[in-house]
Amino acid sequence: MAERMHPIPAMFDRIAYRYDFLNRFLSFGQDMIWRKKVGDYLPIHDNLHVLDLATGTGDLAISLMSNHANVTDVVGLDLSENMLEIGKSKITKANLSNCIQLRRGDAAHIEMGDNSFEVITIAFGIRNVTNVGLALSEMYRCLKMNGRLIVLEFSLPSNRLIRALYLFYFRYWLPLFGGMISGDKSAYHYLNQSAEKFPHGEAFLECLGQAGFKNAKAHPFTFGVVSIYVAEKDVA
Ligand SMILES: C[S@@+](CC[C@H](N)C(=O)[O-])C[C@H]1O[C@@H](n2cnc3c(N)ncnc32)[C@H](O)[C@@H]1O
Repeated sequence: MAERMHPIPAMFDRIAYRYDFLNRFLSFGQDMIWRKKVGDYLPIHDNLHVLDLATGTGDLAISLMSNHANVTDVVGLDLSENMLEIGKSKITKANLSNCIQLRRGDAAHIEMGDNSFEVITIAFGIRNVTNVGLALSEMYRCLKMNGRLIVLEFSLPSNRLIRALYLFYFRYWLPLFGGMISGDKSAYHYLNQSAEKFPHGEAFLECLGQAGFKNAKAHPFTFGVVSIYVAEKDVA
């Protein structure tokens, strides 16, 4: 597989053991609140089979399964073996091994059948995928008719003052602390560079439309530091 040697999953392999701690520390605990918010956009009907792409250490899969009785099971895919390994032990500890399954898999080449899931989620993952258009069309293919895609990703605050303060933190402090604690400064430089470069708001809604999604909406949180995008495969 072309993605096997890709530098981005390899980078996550290197920082995997500090990843959860740094998420909590660098986001001042907000990252768990943002992932929990994703659950607010689930469909309300029962028996949801969820595919969580770029699942990493499984935080979103665990949050969805623990907080939503209508989620029946979650399959999590990621290209980093070390991230998955940590995720698997968290799932075992949380007693959720019977309903969350993590395995190696590429968001741009999803090895699942057409129309398989009611919901597909991806948290802080889409900006890491090399071919975003291909990944979005794979998500579209794997969703059932009327199924829902929920994307959580960094965005940029629209207020100029807040944006300037945020960018100062994001460009200078975050790589400094992230680098010191993880021992991999480049990974935390990559974080701010990839987040600033990634299309957000209207631009990402356009990408969703190009992949065939309908009713795409952006919901910014925490002054627009992150956004949750919700879109559907066709409309009844
Ligand atoms: C910032 S982490 C997000 C992990 C998790 N979703 C979370 O909320 O913490 C990004 C993850 O994307 C994974 N990744 C990058 N490219 C991928 C791809 N093409 N397919 C699947 N996972 C990928 C990385 O290995 C990494 O675990």
